[in-house]
Amino acid sequence: MRVGMLTGGGDCPGLNAVIRAAVRKGIQHYGDEFIGFMEGWRGVLDNNTMPLDLKTTSGILQLGGTILRTSRTNVRKIEGGLEKCLETFKANKLDALIAIGGDDTQSVSNALVEKGAHCVGVPKTIDNDLSGTDVCFGFDTAVSIATEAVDRLHSTAEAHNRVIVCEVMGRDAGWIAITTGIAGGADAILVPEKPIDIEEVCKLIKYRHDHGKKFSIVVVAEGAKFPDGGQATHGEKLDAFGHARLSGIGQTVAEEIEKRTGYETRSVNLGHTQRGGTPSAYDRMLATRYGSAAIDLVHAGKFGRLVVLRGTEIQDIAIKDAIAKTRTVGDDLLNLAKGLQPMV
Ligand code: F6P
Repeated sequence: MRVGMLTGGGDCPGLNAVIRAAVRKGIQHYGDEFIGFMEGWRGVLDNNTMPLDLKTTSGILQLGGTILRTSRTNVRKIEGGLEKCLETFKANKLDALIAIGGDDTQSVSNALVEKGAHCVGVPKTIDNDLSGTDVCFGFDTAVSIATEAVDRLHSTAEAHNRVIVCEVMGRDAGWIAITTGIAGGADAILVPEKPIDIEEVCKLIKYRHDHGKKFSIVVVAEGAKFPDGGQATHGEKLDAFGHARLSGIGQTVAEEIEKRTGYETRSVNLGHTQRGGTPSAYDRMLATRYGSAAIDLVHAGKFGRLVVLRGTEIQDIAIKDAIAKTRTVGDDLLNLAKGLQPMV
């Protein structure tokens, strides 16, 4: 078969591992030919491609970023965009397309599937917020990077008797924050799923001070908000999928803590560090399983489906179900975090 591949949305560690696995299995076991579209859906609109073969995908397993580059191009917002994509598929004599991306990228795949295109999806996002899969690749690496940062913040916070607030990514879901916070032993964890209770945060920090710990670490998700406010954003501009650029809640939380407790408080925003660099072994493994399963789906003719991880098993679900709803953090993890804190 002739199979196209693209990576869309924010990059994340493990994209190259998916590409490599699908290409290696496709060429060596099915006799497929591949082409890669550059910069996500933009490459399909512009018919901008690169060859994907055993040579071009060699030595990329451990590389962060994506050899196909990426963009947040919303084909559905461009007049005649979907039709243009279908023309490109035809011009390249494609039998199928594997789109590696999160809910935005998959929303375009879904629209094309509804027009008869043969798309299959692979769930990618450090945010881990796609419904129907237990884990998206990239999440483990992002959490490892953030946890290492929190470990490092502990020693400097302790040396200076400071409170340090660490802001992590995750958009409207608190998966990175709650996992990093628990794994890194943060004293308070703030997620978008629960309005910020600044009084409670201050009580937790004061309790520590009163019991001999003169420093504290707070992890806050970029999408967390105060009960009476919206999310902290950088600028007014929205991206092509209508998302604001979330940033800055960490600094606001730090200022509130310092004002209310009198303890010196600093904030750190980890930002894109969480998306860069080499994928963890877990993400390389998951990405490889996803890439291999995606080319199997193509050959099984299961179009409109997304490969997912359920428990320890790779399965597939309808793309439209995966994008229907953002998967947010549940009470189990919120209660786990609470159970580790003193009752203030
Ligand atoms: O969706 C992944 C993500 O890293 C979010 O956590 C974050 O809000 C957003 O992308 C940042 O996007 P950009 O790279 O366009 O600044």
